[in-house]
Amino acid sequence: MHMHGRHAAKANLPLSPNWLLLLLALLAPRGVDAARYLQSGNPSPDDVVLPKNDLNDKPLIGILSQPLFHEQPGVSYLAASYVQFVESAGARAVPIVYTDSDDVNDRNFEAINGLILPGGTVGNDATAAEAFARTARRFYEKAIATNAAGDPFVIHGVCMGFQMLMQFSANRTDVLSHGFDSKEHPNELHLTPAAATSYMFGGGGLEGEELRERLQMKPPVLLENHVEGVTPETYETDALLRDTWNVLSTSFDRQGKEYLSTVENKAGYPISGTQWHPEKNPFEWKSDAIPHSPAAVTVTQEMARRIVNAARMSSHRPASVEEGNALVIWNNAPRFRSKLVRDFELIFVYGDNSTSSSLSAAAEWRR
Ligand SMILES: *[C@@H]1O[C@H](CO)[C@@H](O)[C@H](O)[C@H]1NC(C)=O
Ligand SMILES: *[C@@H]1O[C@H](CO)[C@@H](O)[C@H](O)[C@H]1NC(C)=O
Repeated sequence: MHMHGRHAAKANLPLSPNWLLLLLALLAPRGVDAARYLQSGNPSPDDVVLPKNDLNDKPLIGILSQPLFHEQPGVSYLAASYVQFVESAGARAVPIVYTDSDDVNDRNFEAINGLILPGGTVGNDATAAEAFARTARRFYEKAIATNAAGDPFVIHGVCMGFQMLMQFSANRTDVLSHGFDSKEHPNELHLTPAAATSYMFGGGGLEGEELRERLQMKPPVLLENHVEGVTPETYETDALLRDTWNVLSTSFDRQGKEYLSTVENKAGYPISGTQWHPEKNPFEWKSDAIPHSPAAVTVTQEMARRIVNAARMSSHRPASVEEGNALVIWNNAPRFRSKLVRDFELIFVYGDNSTSSSLSAAAEWRR
């Protein structure tokens, strides 16, 4: 039990045995302080009251691997831009391989402080798609449970990951509407009033206000790349979606069709989703549609900072330094401009026996 700053000051009463400290800690408005921490992006330790743990200066964030586009059973990949995204804000990335056993992934869950559900596609293999969604949902449900128990755990879903969060929370797959004209589409957000007090976009000062300006600016600095999405009508008519999410923004496709573009958990858990791609601007170069301007890059940096800072609240730790080192992504070599995927500069591949050794990956680097 740790208390800081003004709450510790409260304890300077004439009668302050430990049980009184404990009582004050239990009565302290934790949600408020966690929310202030989440919104501030650049917190002072005095502003933070955590129920279970000190802030974690060595956060580990999982990146969920996904099936390859083409059919290779058991082989999955993740894009290094998600790795670079979390690293840029002071976290280390951990590959969460969707084909790993529940035992392995449950152990990984206890070591990591958050998980990114990636964008992309799961390809045409229904079995692989189902296994992938099942692993993602397992982490989502464990994250909800651990947050509800007072121990923050971050989930951020991007594009397809956003859509999965919608499906998991609504407990049905048909919350998605199809046919949005938003492939390779630089686009801006239309912020709702909730944005200004949110974990993703909130806060005063330059970081909060400038961030919100940049999210809305034209020409836009955010990349959208999707044909499926959730309409405001679906959100309004689905009680589970409404109860789970605050909508921070909607956006419009090229035909003027509106969809939810940013959501975060209504209960104050650091669980959020963006239909747009916060990770691509500084790190992906294959599509000419990706904005690379200074304003675009700072949006990526600010989103990374908020997500990683939220993960610092989690009490999860690897069992040892060795376990932490064994988990981090750099145990495998990435592949630059691999022919296995279309959209990404740099990827990590799992389960491909023919090429997964560092040596053959290095050979691919030289091609
Ligand atoms: C989700 O839906 C399934 C059936 O489709 C049902 O068995 C289950 O209880 C539902 N879960 C929740 C949390 O509503
Ligand atoms: C990789 O090798 C392991 C053990 O050598 C084997 O069980 C697995 O089926 C192989 N995977 C593929 C995709 O060939």
